[in-house]
Amino acid sequence: MGMQHNPGGASEPVPSELGGFDQKNTMASDTVPSSPSGPNFQEVQHQSMMQRCIALARRALGATAPNPLVGCVIVQDGQIVGEGFHPKAGEPHAEVFALRAAGELARGATLYVNLEPCNHYGRTPPCSEALIKAGIVQVVVGMVDPDPRVSGRGIAQLRSAGVEVVVGIEEAACQRLNEAFIHRVRYRRPFGILKYAMTLDGKIATTSGHSAWVTDPASLATVHRLRAVCDAIIVGGNTVRRDNPRLTLHRDLPAEKPARNPLRIIMSRSLQLPLQARLWQTVEAPTLVLTESRNPEFQQYLIQQGIEVINFEALTPAVVMSYLYERGLLSVLWECGGTLAAPAIAQGAVQKVMAFIAPKIVGGDTAPTPVGELGLTTMTNALSLEQVQWHTIGADCLIEGYLPRRLWEPTRL
Ligand SMILES: NC(=O)c1ccc[n+]([C@@H]2O[C@H](COP(=O)([O-])OP(=O)(O)OC[C@H]3O[C@@H](n4cnc5c(N)ncnc54)[C@H](OP(=O)(O)O)[C@@H]3O)[C@@H](O)[C@H]2O)c1
Repeated sequence: MGMQHNPGGASEPVPSELGGFDQKNTMASDTVPSSPSGPNFQEVQHQSMMQRCIALARRALGATAPNPLVGCVIVQDGQIVGEGFHPKAGEPHAEVFALRAAGELARGATLYVNLEPCNHYGRTPPCSEALIKAGIVQVVVGMVDPDPRVSGRGIAQLRSAGVEVVVGIEEAACQRLNEAFIHRVRYRRPFGILKYAMTLDGKIATTSGHSAWVTDPASLATVHRLRAVCDAIIVGGNTVRRDNPRLTLHRDLPAEKPARNPLRIIMSRSLQLPLQARLWQTVEAPTLVLTESRNPEFQQYLIQQGIEVINFEALTPAVVMSYLYERGLLSVLWECGGTLAAPAIAQGAVQKVMAFIAPKIVGGDTAPTPVGELGLTTMTNALSLEQVQWHTIGADCLIEGYLPRRLWEPTRL
């Protein structure tokens, strides 16, 4: 088996919630199913190799924006002869790494890839041409590329060159893996995840604003892994004033592993932010302040500490997501309180909700709750999550699901 290590790519599988919380982080089988004992043998092989593509692709979770996660396996005479994954934008695509690893053994082989091979000149030449040139005879594709520059054309190009193409193997898993990319391409917005930790009585802090910690350490570790696979974290001004958060992965990172902290974003209309804050320390991770307040002195103060400040006419979650799309982000984690979470939901900036629920009760009529005013007055109008999953994490429960499409389809943006 030829395993190619991608330069610049993460070499360890990264546990992640984005792209499938329920997926195991172990590598899928590295052997091709070997006993052709029934009519389903080929289907089983296709599924097994596609799962391996997904596992390979996941090694670059959090590193590929604005590009998708892609893994590739080449099989010749029942043996894996080459594989690879796309490590980051600007680096070669997964197919190129796999072809390099396979060398001459690619001739006459089957190539598996979770996303349709590209057929256009971007930062790298088209993969479809490279596959044809290398003599690949069969291509098994997980899903058609939603990118209009590619969609179906890579497959058509391969077929017109006489390559047999099978499409749709493990399609649902492939779509889940690249849910952020698909959303970005279709709706021209990054994929938004609202994450919060609350007590059993629905509070994200006590009446005094104290919130460290609502959930247990196992949940905190899960949140840190989630941060590692997102491109940015957003909080509101209040969370900075009350919590003074760091928003890094500091707990989980072994010293020998390079940190990959996402961009930390503060949305503050007033810019009434403290002079001293952990988020002003930019050695570990970059900080971006988004505001509509022209306060040149404080802005200058922030800029001098290495913080980027961007001014908007009217600061809203919708304009922020549009701006972050232009910056090339795939996924954004909303870690704000309820004041900002409510307009983020209402304006279509959130697609997925991840609620960590601790078996604790704090009470308090004025204690903050995860989502502020949405203007819903009857339970029949409640936003029901779809594709809901439940997980237990330590003593806590995590519920995740997707907000109804009607909230974030383009007409709402
Ligand atoms: N347990 C958890 O998961 C969790 C997570 C986050 C926060 N918390 C807790 O929640 C409390 C803070 O909750 P919160 O809801 O007040 O904080 P928040 O939602 O994080 O911050 C609200 C602030 O966001 C800013 N903002 C910018 N644009 C906005 C817009 N278009 N609409 C609304 N707000 C906008 C404003 O900041 P300016 O006032 O600066 O203009 C506003 O005051 C704290 O006690 C914190 O400990 C808990």
